[in-house]
Amino acid sequence: MSYGLLKGKKGIISGALDENSIAWKTALKAHEEGASIVLTNAPIAMRMGKINELAEKVNAEIIPADATSVEDLESLFSKSTEVLGGQLDFVLHSIGMSPNIRKGKEYGDLNYDWYMKSLDISALSFHKFMQVAEKLDSLNEWASIVGLSYIAAQRTYPFYTDMADAKAVLESIARGFGYRLGKAKNVRVNTISQSPTPTTAGSGIGGFDSFFDFAEKMSPLGNATGEDCANYIISLFSDFTKMVTMQNLYHDGGYSSTGISEEIIEMMGK
Ligand code: NAI
Repeated sequence: MSYGLLKGKKGIISGALDENSIAWKTALKAHEEGASIVLTNAPIAMRMGKINELAEKVNAEIIPADATSVEDLESLFSKSTEVLGGQLDFVLHSIGMSPNIRKGKEYGDLNYDWYMKSLDISALSFHKFMQVAEKLDSLNEWASIVGLSYIAAQRTYPFYTDMADAKAVLESIARGFGYRLGKAKNVRVNTISQSPTPTTAGSGIGGFDSFFDFAEKMSPLGNATGEDCANYIISLFSDFTKMVTMQNLYHDGGYSSTGISEEIIEMMGK
């Protein structure tokens, strides 16, 4: 059911790789809620992904950009305002990748070139998005910017390795730029800390199935799905959350506030 929450709004959605991607589900919802969107992803991901299929469904133009390249992002933001016919009301940063995780490196044996890559792709790119948007004056008053995080930024999850550090930086950038853009243009910036979700990025983490099940059993509401996450993102893009900024917002079915659950105690007793 559509509520017209984003009627007349324009925005960029990054990170839609396939139908499991949180960004893919968000693009579908944003379109349903009346927004005009531009889709973006890394040029290499577009060759492998199915983004054209999505673009057709949501009537969007695709503008490739490697999120680590300021030049690519300048082209993304300037072309987007051109294509959409005005400044942007929302931006979704839904980007994460760790070469160390991909190659199975543990936290005490990280390759530092890859570590820098993880940080650049998964965290600094969020800063780059906003620095470019500010410099090009691409954002409308009261625009909303959302990034996606994970609770490994606050607590240790051994298999999350350098992505945990990247998420901590990402959340800090949301505060830094949230202050700055709030003062400048009433723009709000938040991160959503999402439950484990079976996507390409998610299931690449070692032990994903086990910690997906663990989180499911720990959370009174169960894990939040990718679709639930898309709904939450839409609410943050809507005018109903105008005064929420510089927050890391848990979207996890209650996981982050639960010490232990009956299900886990039962399992331990077996
Ligand atoms: P996904 O694999 O569908 O999306 C990740 C996206 O990042 C892909 O579209 C990929 O092409 C893009 N990307 C990678 N390198 C890039 C680059 N250099 N430039 C531009 N784009 C690049 O997976 P998912 O889960 O939808 O990930 C979206 C966000 O949600 C990520 O930030 C992830 O860390 C975060 N997240 C995911 C959770 C999960 O369990 N799946 C839990 C909490 C947060």
